[in-house]
Amino acid sequence: MYTKKNFLFGLCCSVFFYGCTSDSLSDLTELDNITEVKYNQNIKSIIDNNCISCHGATPTSGAPNSLHTYELVKDAVLNLDLIDRISRAEGTSGAMPLGGPRLSQSDINKVIQWNTDGLME
Ligand code: HEC
Repeated sequence: MYTKKNFLFGLCCSVFFYGCTSDSLSDLTELDNITEVKYNQNIKSIIDNNCISCHGATPTSGAPNSLHTYELVKDAVLNLDLIDRISRAEGTSGAMPLGGPRLSQSDINKVIQWNTDGLME
């Protein structure tokens, strides 16, 4: 009788812990989604802090293009080699931001990851 009770108790525990295990798995999956890079969450602030001074709504200081909306930044990645420009060594021809300093490697990686993830808004 005692043993049977223990067995039932054990059964309940394993169901309980199995439940916990599946919860942690779905938590992990959700975390994975959150780390997808998106323009508004991850990219806009990088552009605003480092590029908008020249690439504003009305470009200044000789910048040929604006980077002040999602569409314009996406277009610059697709058609104007934006990732190549920010990846160049500081001080080399065409490196952005013009006149430096180079973006942090983690910011450069975020833009590269944004492109890999599909340039989501
Ligand atoms: C101090 C002003 C200034 C800043 C800040 C600046 N740029 Fe530029 N940018 C320019 C100028 C001037 C040009 C045109 C000369 C050239 O192509 O190198 C240019 C050109 C570009 C081009 C090529 C556009 C084309 O039509 O081919 C891209 C892409 C670009 N910049 C991206 C950026 C990004 C991204 C940032 C921020 C990380 C940035 N720039 C910051 C002045 C600036």
